[in-house]
Amino acid sequence: MGRAKITVVGAGNVGATTAHWCAAAELGDVVLVDIPQAGDMPKGKALDLMQSSPIMGFDSEIAGATDYEPTRDSDVVVITAGIPRKPGMSRDDLLATNAKIVTAVTEQVKTTSPNAILIVVSNPLDAMVQQAQAVSGFPPNRVLGQAGVLDTARYRTFLAMELGVSVEDVSALLMGGHGDTMVPMPTCTSVGGIPIRRLLSEERLGEIVDRARKGGAEIVGLLKTGSAYYAPAAAVAQMVEAIVKDKRRLIPCAAYCDSEYNVGGYYVGVPVVLGANGVERIVELELDEQESADFQKSVDAVRDLVATMNQLMAG
Ligand code: NAI
Ligand code: 2OP
Repeated sequence: MGRAKITVVGAGNVGATTAHWCAAAELGDVVLVDIPQAGDMPKGKALDLMQSSPIMGFDSEIAGATDYEPTRDSDVVVITAGIPRKPGMSRDDLLATNAKIVTAVTEQVKTTSPNAILIVVSNPLDAMVQQAQAVSGFPPNRVLGQAGVLDTARYRTFLAMELGVSVEDVSALLMGGHGDTMVPMPTCTSVGGIPIRRLLSEERLGEIVDRARKGGAEIVGLLKTGSAYYAPAAAVAQMVEAIVKDKRRLIPCAAYCDSEYNVGGYYVGVPVVLGANGVERIVELELDEQESADFQKSVDAVRDLVATMNQLMAG
């Protein structure tokens, strides 16, 4: 059996780091693509990464390109193309520019890798993944977005720091859009099997939830020249691994929900089983009154964002 072929579009911070994590974990061979204006940059990053392989001990091949021919018949395509947030910018400010970029990229991917599973990363995430699905015409199970694994990882990190325990023992879920309305789920958060509310006061938990919600902006404020990429790329690599190894991980992803959670045809963060077919199934939980209200608020924000995007793209 041959190796999986993984294309990463956008050879910037998130894209190159995703290529790094995927190659180092031997998830498959990786093609890193950017625009022609990027010149030989993707080839340079790919060659540099390849030259780390004898030291790190991995056999994945990494190639760089500014056209889609080398990406042909990829199994998984990760779209990180776009501009990142600068300080003071919201993810929504990126909407118009990135919608055009994601459209152009998806048109290329659709013809060169018609059977691929698409993982969208570009922001504002929930609108970009909706656009990628619409432009590709791929079945919704083969188009999904990365947000929840990252947002949950931030939440888990802060909880582990607070409690002075291993991150490995912190299990958590977070739903809704990748924005300020995301919905951390304390009822689905446990540490070593112990429900979080038995370990932390409601007040302290609320502070940690708030920090997780604003986790992306906290990094933007520190970096000043761009947004987070190590944790985002690690999150993507976990999703790629779930697909190429058919692991059936139960993790939060931006998935197309119609009747599910009564969303009505939008991409939002929900727990999914992720495997060789992409979204194998969406796990529907019964939400309590507060969770339900918070989730609805988040879905409304995503719906507004998609409406704005559609207006901008039509105009
Ligand atoms: P970056 O600026 O380092 O890299 C973006 C790359 O995309 C650049 O190399 C640029 O030349 C390339 N690009 C632009 N148009 C392209 C096109 N049409 N085709 C191919 N490549 C193209 O930005 P970074 O930090 O890698 O972020 C990328 C995107 O990911 C941003 O939109 C950012 O907001 C988003 N992001 C999303 C996260 C999530 O959790 N969903 C987390 C982190 C970043
Ligand atoms: C983040 O959450 C920028 O969406 C990106 O870090």
